[in-house]
Parts: sequence; structure tokens; C-alpha cells
Amino acid sequence: MDHFTYSNGILHAEDVSITDIATTVGTPFYAYSAATLTRHFQLFQEALAWTDHLVCFAIKSNSNLAVLKLLGDLGAGMDVVSIGEYHRAKAAGVPGERIVFSGVGKTREEIALALQGGIRQFNVESEPELEAISQIASGMGVTAPIALRVNPDVDAKTHEKIATGKSENKFGIPIAKARTVYALAARLPGIDVVGIDVHIGSQLTDLEPFELAFTKVADLTRALREDGHNIRRLDLGGGLGIPYERSNDAPPLPIEYGQVIQRTVGDLGCEIEIEPGRLISGNAGVLVSSVIYLKQGDGRNFLILDAAMNDLVRPSMYGAYHDIIPVVQAEAGVEQSAMDIVGPVCETGDTFAKGRNMPPVGPGDLVAFRSAGAYGAVMASEYNSRPLIPEVLVQGDHFAVIRQRPSFEEMLSRDSIPEWL
Ligand code: LLP
Repeated sequence: MDHFTYSNGILHAEDVSITDIATTVGTPFYAYSAATLTRHFQLFQEALAWTDHLVCFAIKSNSNLAVLKLLGDLGAGMDVVSIGEYHRAKAAGVPGERIVFSGVGKTREEIALALQGGIRQFNVESEPELEAISQIASGMGVTAPIALRVNPDVDAKTHEKIATGKSENKFGIPIAKARTVYALAARLPGIDVVGIDVHIGSQLTDLEPFELAFTKVADLTRALREDGHNIRRLDLGGGLGIPYERSNDAPPLPIEYGQVIQRTVGDLGCEIEIEPGRLISGNAGVLVSSVIYLKQGDGRNFLILDAAMNDLVRPSMYGAYHDIIPVVQAEAGVEQSAMDIVGPVCETGDTFAKGRNMPPVGPGDLVAFRSAGAYGAVMASEYNSRPLIPEVLVQGDHFAVIRQRPSFEEMLSRDSIPEWL
């Protein structure tokens, strides 16, 4: 459920008309709903209400400071994968003890800065990383709390580019090797082993891979406790999928996901952490764009928008589906026609949808891409020297621009021409 619905024939974000936002900020832009972000975060809180837990929002899905502040104020922890994301979490007022640092390639500088600023735990992905953390922490005279990310060799049954839990993926330590690496961790100075971490992929629409992975984590917890480790925290990653295509079956609900967690690891007495991104931010955002031209091609019609692959890369990168709807509601029963919906970027990959049935829309009309709040703005680029587009946060009957569209002067000012040219 989200808070983007038609009211008097105009798409609204909560109580604000998308047309009004477009008039104020111009298109294209992203608009987020505070009520949807809050609701989705609370669904996870409810799903884990049976246990001590921390829901760590995966900042990579949407890193706008206002979004982080909203979630942080609700009590969310943050899952970060770079020191840049760490700085964002801190700037949004989230304390270090609620920040988990994940990622396969943390640099020494990033590790030191996180230790300095305070960190809940590093999710460690290799022995060399473990050794680096040990050296840096002991050199600073501090102890680094760590969990080892294990790779359970489970097929997440999702898009190959976002599956992470198979042995051939670059992530984690093979679960069969985990006991040896935990023994090393226990011997190393400056390291406090607090738990186990696992993350098998993103946009999972089936609970079974979670069940398999968490069962393996439960077995490993028991084995590690026998080995004398004080395993007190389990970080079960993110990955629960959202319904991009509304006509398809709905993916499982957070409450059902919480039941899988309870069934598999609930009897271990561990504090549970999860790292959802997409399910919190995905359906909390739309990308709004204007139609520039309607072009009749050879046997196909192209709807050319002012948004492009640089603003929302998911369709061209993963072949991802996004619902695209007119901001002014089509009349019931109106005839639809198939269109290729494209952006102005100079490559054929800049295609959002092929042969998509659309009601009549023409130049100047607004359309909205649904489910664009996750992995939308954060993956945007300035390809073709197109400015990054603004982000707007709506709450009730008001909205604010939470990221400005840069001016061309600002964009150009980041380059410099050497004096010898
Ligand atoms: N934790 C870790 C360690 C992750 O790598 C990820 C996502 C998450 C949590 C959050 O997963 P979520 O709950 O959002 O599924 N750009 C791709 C998605 C990449 C996901 C990467 N890792 C897309 O647009 O589909």
C-alpha cells in the first residue's frame, strides 16, 4: 500500500497534487511520501515485535538526508556501505551505535573513520578485511564489534545482478569455512565478535530462500556457541521484494517474513537486525516526467519523455518494470494504445518500456513512474550533461524540496581547465 492515489482525477502524493509540485519545481522530479515511508518502516517493527531487534534502513536504496532523518527519528538504524553513506547517517542524526557498516571493499581509511565516529558493527566479508580491522582498531586502542557475513550458497531466485548468496558471488565467507574464520577473529586483537550476518539478494518474491539461509545461520550459531563464541546478534540482511507490476501476484508481507525469522532463528535468544531498503523506500516514491513528443515510427509509436535512463536506470540496467501512469487520470473505458516509452538520451538502451499500453497522452502531459523511491535517485547520473533531478518530500498537505536541481553553472564549476591548455 502507498499514498499515491487519484483525487478529483489528479494523482496526489498524500494530499498534495502532483500537478502542483510539477508547477513549482518543474519536471522531471522524484516525489516521496512521508506516510508511506513511515508505514513501511512500522511494518518491519511490527513483524519483529516479538524480539529485541533493530531495523537498519539500507541507505543505498534512498540516501536523501530528509528520508534518513525521518526514518532515524522513528528509531531506525542504518546499513551503510561506504563512508559517504556513514556521513549521511550521521548528518541525519543517527548515532554510531545504530549504524552497521557492510560491503566487500571497505578501505582502511573508511574503517578508521567509522571507528572514530562510532559504529554498531562491521559486517566483515573476508579474512584480509578482518585482519585490517584488527590492525586499525588495535592501533587506535579500541575494539571493533564485528559480525562475519557468511555466504550460505542459497539461490535467491531473483535477477542475477542482484543475487548475492550463491557461492560464485563475490560476497561473504563460504559458510563451510566460517568456523575457521571465527576462530581467527577470536584470536585477533581489537576484535569483538558479536554475531553473524547474511544477505542473499534483493527483490526476493519468495520466502523459501530466506528460510533456507536463516536455517543455515541458526545451525552455524549453535556450532559457533559450542566453539565458545558469544554470538548474540544476527543480522539477516535485506531483500524482501515489492510489487512492481500490480497485476502480478503480491510478494510476501513483512509480517510473513518476520514469521520465517521467528521460526528459523527465534529460539536462539539473539538480537535480530535486518537491513531492508527497497520495501521501505520503493513504493514511497514516484518519478514524475513530462511528455516532450509523441513520435510515430515505423509501425510503433514513441512517447518521448523528459526523464531518461540517467534519472532512473533500472529499466535499462535490469530490464526492470515500472508502472507508468498519467498524472491526469484517464477516463474509464478509454481506448489504450501500445507505445515505446523512451527518454532523450542518445542510446537505444534509454527505453523505459516497450509496447506498453497507455491511455491517450501527448506533449506537455505528466506521467508518473511508480515504485521509484528505491534505487532511483541514488543511481542517477549526469550522463548527457543532464542535471540530477530534484527530490521532493510530501507530508500530509505540504511538501518541501529536499534536493535542489543544480544550475548549469554549478555543474560546470566542478570541472576545471588546466592553465596549460
Ligand atoms: N543489505 C545489503 C548488504 C545489501 O547489499 C542490500 C542491497 C540491502 C541490504 C538492501 O536490499 P533491499 O532490501 O533493498 O532489497 N540496484 C538494484 C538493487 C541492488 C541491491 C543491492 N544490495 C535495483 O535497482 O534493483
